[in-house]
Amino acid sequence: MNVLVIGSGAREHTIGWKVSKSSRVKKVLFAPGNGGTQLAGYENLKVSIKDHDKLLRFATEHGCLTIVGPEEPLANGIVDLFKSNGLRILGPSRDAARLESSKVWAKEFMRRHGIPTAESDVFDEPEAAKDYIARSKKDGGIVVKADGLAAGKGVVVCNSKEEAYAAVDKMMKDKVFGDAGNRVVLEERLYGEEVSFICMSDGKHIIPLATSQDHKRAYDNDGGPNTGGMGAYSPNPMIDEKMHEWIMHNIMQKAIDGLRQEGIEFKGFLYAGLMLVDDKAYVLEFNVRLGDPETQVILPRLRSDLIEYVEHCIDGTLDEAEDMVWDDRVAVCVVLASKGYPNEYEKGKVITGLDKLAGMDDDVLVFHAGTRVIDDCSGRVVTDGGRVLSVVALGNDMSDAIEKVYTAINSVYWEGIHYRRDIGRRALRYLLNG
Ligand code: AMP
Ligand code: GLY
Repeated sequence: MNVLVIGSGAREHTIGWKVSKSSRVKKVLFAPGNGGTQLAGYENLKVSIKDHDKLLRFATEHGCLTIVGPEEPLANGIVDLFKSNGLRILGPSRDAARLESSKVWAKEFMRRHGIPTAESDVFDEPEAAKDYIARSKKDGGIVVKADGLAAGKGVVVCNSKEEAYAAVDKMMKDKVFGDAGNRVVLEERLYGEEVSFICMSDGKHIIPLATSQDHKRAYDNDGGPNTGGMGAYSPNPMIDEKMHEWIMHNIMQKAIDGLRQEGIEFKGFLYAGLMLVDDKAYVLEFNVRLGDPETQVILPRLRSDLIEYVEHCIDGTLDEAEDMVWDDRVAVCVVLASKGYPNEYEKGKVITGLDKLAGMDDDVLVFHAGTRVIDDCSGRVVTDGGRVLSVVALGNDMSDAIEKVYTAINSVYWEGIHYRRDIGRRALRYLLNG
């Protein structure tokens, strides 16, 4: 079969790389892909992820099974469109994607089904929201969330009431996220360990992927603004067997069952961003797709053929699938970003050392995101986005993987390159001290 991967990030590059290893996959195409997917010899289709009709035409022409990377096409109903045209596609319907595309809907859904999450209230008017903040006894403990999709930037964790007022004004009055900020959720701030938990589901059954941990802040020691994610590792030692079971039972299965009971089908990847507090976990957010950069550490550890699970999800037969087999080694990913990211950043900087990276042993992998191959036959690659490359290393343990990944990074350079130096360090401390 041919597989079409929709998206242009390192997550999508990793998905394509993984499915290309299946003996059942003839060809992998990307829409639109990036410099790395082009260099690796896959076919990049020149089409925007917003142009669903064109994507449908391409998938039909090439006879593709489609896997959707980012949330936007899912929230805009690409799965409904492809299915109604008889195409095979993995991802939730537009209705199910509300779990990610509307924080208000997701909070109400969690309340309806008894899924643990922070206390919250919804506001349509800025004055009412500010009044609530003024009356709140939880000074320094409020999180302001825009209802709609805001490219991962629609959440402000506030340290004071003043910060919370300012966040409400930014979202509701200044409309910095457009209509996404017409409504806001004000949420109790939780303190604990934040983890990512991702499952595959066919709408009824669920299979957990390996656990992982993102690093959301831009700078070392979790400083600076929130980003899409600056690094990750897998497995996550903070989720022990007991907690794993608790999360599967009280969160993931409840979510899938709740959707089904409401007549909403969820096929695809369900991602819960969780806060571990004592011996419980609370949902901070649901995403209806794989995480980026979590995917870059999860899929290289998967020994099984991903495409088999994709097909089981589409067919509703995930209960017939064999257990997934995982590599015991630890994977660490460091995201290399452009100067300025996550705010305004530079583009067009020539990247050097990619050939050295590619020539390293099999334990080091490079997945591209914001890169472009220059159109002058030189084969040179330039930066073309905020997050540029994901460098991944597999090691015998956490410290081995960390050492390998940072050694590999030393060989790549562009002007203004920025990355965190402390990916995995907290896990290392946790492993040493418990
Ligand atoms: P979200 O998009 O809802 O996951 O929020 C983005 C980030 O804000 C999360 O990854 C957390 O770091 C933080 N966050 C969200 N909700 C809360 C909360 N209730 N308490 C503490 N931090 C939160
Ligand atoms: N790494 C966080 C996300 O994919 O939403």
